[in-house]
Amino acid sequence: MSQCAAIIAAAGSGERFGATLPKALITLGNRTLIEHAVAALAPIASEIVICAPAGYEKQIQELVGADITVVTGGTTRSDSVRAGIAALTGKNKYVLVHDAARALASTQLAKNVLAALEKGEVAIIPGLELIDTVKSVDAGGHVTSTPDRASLRRVQTPQGFDLEILKKAHSSGANATDDGALVEAIGHKVLIINGEDRALKITTPADLATALSTLGDSSEFRTGVGVDAHAFEEGRELWLAGLHWPNEVGVAGHSDGDVAAHAICDALFAAGQLGDLGSNFGTDKPEYAGASGVTLLKETMQKISSAGYSISNVTVQIIGNRPKLTSRRSEAIATLSAALGGANVSVLATTTDGMGLTGEGRGIAAIASALLIKQG
Ligand code: CTP
Ligand code: MG
Repeated sequence: MSQCAAIIAAAGSGERFGATLPKALITLGNRTLIEHAVAALAPIASEIVICAPAGYEKQIQELVGADITVVTGGTTRSDSVRAGIAALTGKNKYVLVHDAARALASTQLAKNVLAALEKGEVAIIPGLELIDTVKSVDAGGHVTSTPDRASLRRVQTPQGFDLEILKKAHSSGANATDDGALVEAIGHKVLIINGEDRALKITTPADLATALSTLGDSSEFRTGVGVDAHAFEEGRELWLAGLHWPNEVGVAGHSDGDVAAHAICDALFAAGQLGDLGSNFGTDKPEYAGASGVTLLKETMQKISSAGYSISNVTVQIIGNRPKLTSRRSEAIATLSAALGGANVSVLATTTDGMGLTGEGRGIAAIASALLIKQG
């Protein structure tokens, strides 16, 4: 592990966001802002202290787990950081100070900050160039000067410091909107390295939408296609799309022959690169002999979940002259979706105009597609 500690300032109330919860507990994608911030720093920090809003310490501790120290934050951000410094073990030479509100700052950004500390810099802050021209104004709103835009940076967190220097900078009890300013005020050099758009500070609900699109970019999407076909066999019951179809001729097969369910399983296995129906439930796995389509869907769902995927959506198109699906489409969607943990499912049907595949009326086929998401 590195010689690096981290303090995450999360004690703000999120007034501008306007929610009933503190901002750190707002959900973005699959977890809260504070959990995102912890996930980004955990790979490089050997200790993490979170400054929590008063009254929410326990809730945050339960979210982040017992390895992380949670303390009560202060009235201002700088007070919160001071509470965080006081709770550090002091064993680490370096410290990163981060805002929970910059929930999507990447681990790579934190690594870049740490790398500059390890090279001997004592204060590093990520920053971005300005897009707009900036003006200084007086109390009456008249411009007093136009700073050269090229020399300006808008700064972000995590900011990295030599711990002793950060302690000294905070010892005066002064307030500043970032820790870099306090270190600068006691005469140390502060280096700016390249920041990143995704480290934006989530301040309003609109920022949450921007952050969500970033999250989409960092997720891994995987698609897969699956096909299955079975021939009719007199005397068998028909199972299709998870439903029993009385008065219809069934199909041959060592299972219930549900081509729609089987095609979906294959599409899911394909997307997750987890083999196929045969390799997962084939004849060498006698426990699956005669298993229903719904059972196989549930097992498949478990396998893709264990591999870290969730389903964005699944579609299946049934190809055959009969049965007529229309009147039972919603029932089929509900059954398949329930087997897949509530995933979005579409069910379509078509014939092939008397040609090819099942057009001769000798069986039923299905083609399915699946889109899986793996969180980055
Ligand atoms: N923060 C803190 N202690 C405070 C105030 C702010 O730890 N007394 C933290 C916030 O939780 C946030 C970061 O400092 O992660 C940056 O502050 P900001 O984005 O302004 O968040 P809030 O203060 O919560 O929002 P607002 O100003 O809209 O109330
Ligand atoms: Mg604030």
